[in-house]
Amino acid sequence: MTKEELLDRLWEQYTAITPSAEKIEALLSKNGSLITNDHIALRTFNDSRVNIAVLEKPFLEAGYAPCGTYDFASKKLFAKHYEHTLDKQAPRIFISELELEKCSAGLQRIVQKILDSCDAETFKQPDLILAGRIWEKPSHALYSILREESEYAAWMYVFGFRANHFTVNVNDLADFKTLEALNLFLENEGWKLNLSGGKIKGSPAQLLEQSSTLGDVLGIEFKEGRYYIPTCYYEFAKRYPDASGQLFLGFIASSANKIFESTDVKLQVAQ
Ligand code: NI
Repeated sequence: MTKEELLDRLWEQYTAITPSAEKIEALLSKNGSLITNDHIALRTFNDSRVNIAVLEKPFLEAGYAPCGTYDFASKKLFAKHYEHTLDKQAPRIFISELELEKCSAGLQRIVQKILDSCDAETFKQPDLILAGRIWEKPSHALYSILREESEYAAWMYVFGFRANHFTVNVNDLADFKTLEALNLFLENEGWKLNLSGGKIKGSPAQLLEQSSTLGDVLGIEFKEGRYYIPTCYYEFAKRYPDASGQLFLGFIASSANKIFESTDVKLQVAQ
């Protein structure tokens, strides 16, 4: 798959369950501005059948190279980010994986069972990253159990392999000089932002500021019937140059830690 095809298919699949992203993109490009993506985030489990080393393949083939690694101890996540070697305008790719061995025995058993239920060939398909949920229709009871321990695992169980979020590159938005101005505009338009860790995660001193919408809430079919749960969210990133004038291209672990909570059902209720 070429980079364009891969990114287009990820966007298509993402907006199918994140209608807010398409609406916000349309809103921001109303005056003819071109919306560019800062990064695309993907989630997985660190089981060797589906870990980062498996999911990164189509990106490496499309010209991406690994750049930074990140640890999110409290969420038991490890992540890597990738940049395109030739196209500096291409969005960065951020892939995280849940460190199963650090989770409870119960969670490990559930994930093992889910993956064991899939045909081994499924894991070998080159576009696994676009395959969505490759196991049977989820059980809401199991979703709830997973969610108690890890919102991340629960999200993976229901939605599978797909982009978790796309991120607007705020530096490229001609109409908004600051992330505050963009946030204010979105709130005035009726969008709800994730307030966990403050509306803006990070600071100019950290060279990266991020905000995000709360995840869309859609009716999802479970074995027990339809339940309304958060799907994906849309993120906004503003980057700053370092002392040498180079724009910071990495990520701030403490900020991403809070951004992960944008699909947390508990926050949906709290806000
Ligand atoms: Ni992000």
